[in-house]
Amino acid sequence: MSSTTLDTTETPRLPDGPRGLLIDGTFVDAADGATMPVHDPATGEVMTHVAVAGPEDVDRAVRAARRAFAEGPWRSFSPSARGKILWRVADLIEQHADELALIESLDNGKPLAEARGDHGFAAEVFRYYAGAATKIDGRTVTPSAPGAWHAYTRREPLGVVGQIIPWNFPLMMASWKLAPALAAGNTVLLKPAEQTPLSALRLAELFAEAGLPDGVLNVLNGLGRVTGAAIAAHDGVDKVAFTGSTETGRAIIDAAKGNLKKVSLELGGKSPNVVFSDADLEAATAGAAGAIFAHMGEVCIAGSRLYVQSDVFDDVVSGVAEKARSLRIGAGTHPDTQLGPLVSDDQLRRVTGYIDDGVQGGGRVLTGGVRHGDRGYFVEPTVMVDVEADARVVREEIFGPVLVARSFDDPADLAREANDSPYGLAAGVWTKDLSKAHRAAAELQAGMVFVNTYGAIDAALPFGGYKQSGWGRELGPDALDLYTQTKTVVIAL
Ligand code: NAI
Ligand code: MG
Repeated sequence: MSSTTLDTTETPRLPDGPRGLLIDGTFVDAADGATMPVHDPATGEVMTHVAVAGPEDVDRAVRAARRAFAEGPWRSFSPSARGKILWRVADLIEQHADELALIESLDNGKPLAEARGDHGFAAEVFRYYAGAATKIDGRTVTPSAPGAWHAYTRREPLGVVGQIIPWNFPLMMASWKLAPALAAGNTVLLKPAEQTPLSALRLAELFAEAGLPDGVLNVLNGLGRVTGAAIAAHDGVDKVAFTGSTETGRAIIDAAKGNLKKVSLELGGKSPNVVFSDADLEAATAGAAGAIFAHMGEVCIAGSRLYVQSDVFDDVVSGVAEKARSLRIGAGTHPDTQLGPLVSDDQLRRVTGYIDDGVQGGGRVLTGGVRHGDRGYFVEPTVMVDVEADARVVREEIFGPVLVARSFDDPADLAREANDSPYGLAAGVWTKDLSKAHRAAAELQAGMVFVNTYGAIDAALPFGGYKQSGWGRELGPDALDLYTQTKTVVIAL
């Protein structure tokens, strides 16, 4: 392959920072002293260790969060005061942009420029909900029942919220969860993914610097099946918000049954990206490559199924393969890197396993198809054709830089095939024909449809999935619904 391997030997040093559990405003060791290693995915080497929360630590954090919600100073914060803290956090993220990008790049593997982009977006999310904090209103209602009434609704916080996030966008996922929850006045237990525990700890320090009272945000690193499961099952937690795999989403629903805590879920995807022959083919080709290779394809909305109208199929798909071959592969911390390593050894095996399965099923690899190098968790950006519609590589989420491409003639067949998926997170449409674009946007079963672009997300735009891609919508005003409950007050006059 012509992709250049960059020198991964000169790894910059991981910045110092907290490594404990944040409980009630203090970084502490786990009750049983447990820790876990944190790996640099570019080398596989252990960079540091962090504390791992067990059930006893989760209990303590729930009590701290409950106290902060019911008794602490957080209760008496005005909406504007809550908003100011979120705005200050946004400023602090920007002031520490280089440090946070380095932490994230070393922890996750993603290129520094992508980490900076994620964090810039995280700051915008904090600002959006800083402004939203003062706009969480109820309404007055006029009942028709006989009598004279004054009736109104209040939108109140839920209480103690557990938030379990994945490793692909560690600090950005924290912002999507924390900003609306805190704007609405909840208190939080945040559980980062075990692969990427570091940026949330630094973010917690920035929250303290911004004036967040103790106990309002608690950060508990640890394994999903231990720490995450304890949070999801805890009777003292009023709501659990989760982003990750559909399989773990189901486990969270089961765990939440005990106290019937509220649940919101942002799960997997296998999103179709559709190129009609009348599209701006240069833009569509670049867009199709970006949709799957950005962030190493470890993206829930990745455009991982490419459907191209048959008369332009060869041109578009060979163009995407060419772009794949041109990507510079290397450690995320190398300034020239465009494609970093996958997050973990597990993910490397999972992704290469899918590629092998696709090839065994008759798939033809146009480019990539193998691990890159023998150190770290790199996979070559891969484009596969001649895959059957029911192949696992076409139906299941791979979560790596692996694109499967199929051709279509009739738009009606295309819609049927594109929608034949348990997922419904996102979809892309490339065409110059306005009617075709709107028709496809209406027909595709997805929470987000991107036309002549892919993956354009914004703090103001609701984000979430149809079908098995999730419950609820994050971002935009919609996310406030995930963290508030409506109380109706009726007064007989
Ligand atoms: P996962 O869904 O198991 O992990 C995500 C988060 O859930 C992590 O914080 C983890 O610690 C936690 N978790 C795991 N098991 C849990 C449980 N029983 N109770 C509570 N929390 C639990 O995802 P994983 O194993 O890291 O990756 C596997 C696949 O999941 C990926 O290959 C990808 O297909 C998909 N995935 C999708 C994401 C998305 O954004 N939609 C993000 C991460 C993974
Ligand atoms: Mg898992």
